[in-house]
Amino acid sequence: MSLKLRKLSYALGAEVCAIDVSQPMSEQSFGEIYRAFLDNNILLFRNQDITRSQHIEFSRRFGELDRHEALPRDRHPQYPELLMVTNEPKPDGSPSDTKYTGRQWHSDMSFTTAPSLGSLLKSYSVPEVGGDTLFANMYLAYEALSDGMKKMIAGLHGVHQSGTRKLANDNTGIARQEEQKKLNPPVAQPVVRVHPETGRKALYIGEKVSRFDGMTEEESKPLIGYLVGHATRPEFVYRHQWCKDDILVWDNRCTMHQALGDFDETQLRHMERTTVLGTPSGYVVT
Ligand code: SIN
Repeated sequence: MSLKLRKLSYALGAEVCAIDVSQPMSEQSFGEIYRAFLDNNILLFRNQDITRSQHIEFSRRFGELDRHEALPRDRHPQYPELLMVTNEPKPDGSPSDTKYTGRQWHSDMSFTTAPSLGSLLKSYSVPEVGGDTLFANMYLAYEALSDGMKKMIAGLHGVHQSGTRKLANDNTGIARQEEQKKLNPPVAQPVVRVHPETGRKALYIGEKVSRFDGMTEEESKPLIGYLVGHATRPEFVYRHQWCKDDILVWDNRCTMHQALGDFDETQLRHMERTTVLGTPSGYVVT
């Protein structure tokens, strides 16, 4: 197979054209996809009207899948490999636990000691307009820093905390946040990570970072704010406008992302995500 790729933006991302990911794929063909994934950091597959099992099966080509023990409320009831990201109310009419998932700059599972390699998000229902997702290229962000700043952050570890900042104004959201915090104590991760496969350095920061290990929040906040602002400059960012049946796979080791709430919340936005396990990184902060 020779992949037909179309660049999505200058900073990152490529669409893989004319492919059905549910069809049998040789090792060699998948190797081409994986190479394109490492080169472009995000791959888009459009029009993938596939079943949940097929989504899981394709995701397994990228590596072992997380069963989302760290986020038990957010899993699909029949498929623990699928994390729900939906604003669809629960059958009893109460708000969805995951309606605000991802509404801050983050890299998936950074608050665990084995943060994710990559994630594959499939869209089932998208609002008429908006509900986009932003992605930042953290290689480019690191490379654009001055030598002085690179030296300053070289030994720093950011303390990552689980839980979404924006909560539903009801007990469900608060209960979820408390449960997540209990299950996932804060984890310190290097601010500069070397990608285990490409060997390139990338910034590893985001809005789940409350402080640097060994420093107070007050001391840390200005630099965290600077680094997040720097990494999310428009030239490092791709904005994805979802269509139904898109599958987007991103490399969590060299990108961060944010789901936008720029849509009519009475319209359904329903996504499901598999999360590929990564290699150990970071340590629990007591
Ligand atoms: C996520 O952070 O995994 C969800 C992103 C999105 O809903 O666009």
